[in-house]
Amino acid sequence: MRTQARSGQMGHGMQKKIYLTGIKPTGTPHFGNYLGAIRPTIQASQNLQWDHYYFIADYHAINALYNANSVRQYVYEVAATWLAFGLNPDQVTLYRQRDVPELFELQWILTCCTAKGLLNRAHAYKAQRDLNLEKHHDSDHGINAGLYAYPVLMAADILLFQAHKVPVGKDQFQHLEMARDIAQAFNTRYGVSLFTLPEPEAESGLVLPGLDGRKMSKSYQNTIPLFESPKKLRTLINRFVTDSSRPEDPKDAETAPIFHFYRAFATETQTASLRERLLQGGMGWGEVKAELFSLVDAALAEPRARYAELIENPAKIDSILTQGAEKARPKAQAFLHEVRQAIGVI
Ligand code: ADP
Ligand code: TRP
Repeated sequence: MRTQARSGQMGHGMQKKIYLTGIKPTGTPHFGNYLGAIRPTIQASQNLQWDHYYFIADYHAINALYNANSVRQYVYEVAATWLAFGLNPDQVTLYRQRDVPELFELQWILTCCTAKGLLNRAHAYKAQRDLNLEKHHDSDHGINAGLYAYPVLMAADILLFQAHKVPVGKDQFQHLEMARDIAQAFNTRYGVSLFTLPEPEAESGLVLPGLDGRKMSKSYQNTIPLFESPKKLRTLINRFVTDSSRPEDPKDAETAPIFHFYRAFATETQTASLRERLLQGGMGWGEVKAELFSLVDAALAEPRARYAELIENPAKIDSILTQGAEKARPKAQAFLHEVRQAIGVI
C-alpha cells in the first residue's frame, strides 16, 4: 500500500493528482494557524488518492523577517507543529524550500513570463504602497523587490510540482490566480502545455478570534501559541475578551468570540449544549473559559508531548526534512529539464 502511495501511480497507470501547500515561518504557530490552515491540510493528507507536498517557505519569510535566529527557529516550529499533529512524512513529501534550489531557477524563468503590470496589481504590494501614499511618502518607500516578486516565487512553488490543488485562504486567492496567469503565459509563449493550471481549494472559512476579539493574528499580538504549558494556556484563555454581562444574564453565544473558539474544538452536541446553557442564563464567562480550557488542553495533550520531543531534537527534524527534499528533487529536476528544453537553454 505504501509503495503504491509513494510511486505516484494509481491502479490503472494514471498519475495521481498533486495537492500542495506551504507555510511561511514568520512566527510561532498559533491556534488561528492551526484551525485555519494546519488542521484541514493534515486532514487532506489522509486521502491517498492524491500525492501531497507540504513545504516550509523559508525563502518567502526572508522578505519580511530579517533575524537569522528567528528564521531558523520558526522553520523548526512549523515543521514540529505539522509532525506533532500527525502529518506523516512517509505518506507525504515534506520539505524546506531552500532544499529544492530548482525552485529559484524556475522563479527566474517565470519572472521573464510575468507581466510587470500583473505584479503592480498584487494586493500585498498595493497595500504597502497605499500606506506610503497615506503617509505622504514616495509610493515605493521601504518596499523591497522581494515583496514585489513574491507572487512569482509562489507560482514557482506551485508550478514546479505541477500541483492541481492548492488550499488557500482569502488573502492568498489572488496569488493562485497569478500562478495560473503565469503558467498560461508560459504555455502560450512556447506553444506547450507543460504547466498545469492549479485550482484553489477554499479553506473552511473558519476565522478564529484572538484574545481581543479581532481575528487572531501575529500582526495584532492577540495570539495564543499552540504549545504553551497548560498553566500558560489557562492564563491566556482567562484573558480572552468577554462582555460585562453578569453570570445570571442570558447570553447570545454567537456574539461571543470565545464561543467560536469553543466550537472549533467541540463536538456538535457539546456546542449545542453550551449555546443552550448560555441562553438560559446562570452561566458566567469564567465557567465557559474553564470548559474551553479543559477541552483544548485535552485535545493538545498528545501533540504537545510530540512537539516537545521534536523541538528538543532539531537534528531529527533536519533529517525528516532532508529526506523529504530527496523525494522532491528528482521530480523537480526532471521537470525543470523539460522547462529548459522548452525555452532553449539546453
Ligand atoms: P498571521 O495572521 O498570524 O500572520 P499568517 O498570515 O501567516 O498568520 O497565516 C498562515 C495561515 O494561517 C493562513 O492560511 C491563514 O489563513 C491561517 N490563519 C491565520 N490566522 C487565522 C485565524 N485567526 N483564523 C483562521 N485561519 C487563520
Ligand atoms: N504565501 C503563503 C502565505 O503567505 C505561503 C506560500 C508560499 C504558499 N508558497 C506557497 C502557499 C505555495 C501555498 C502554495 O501563507
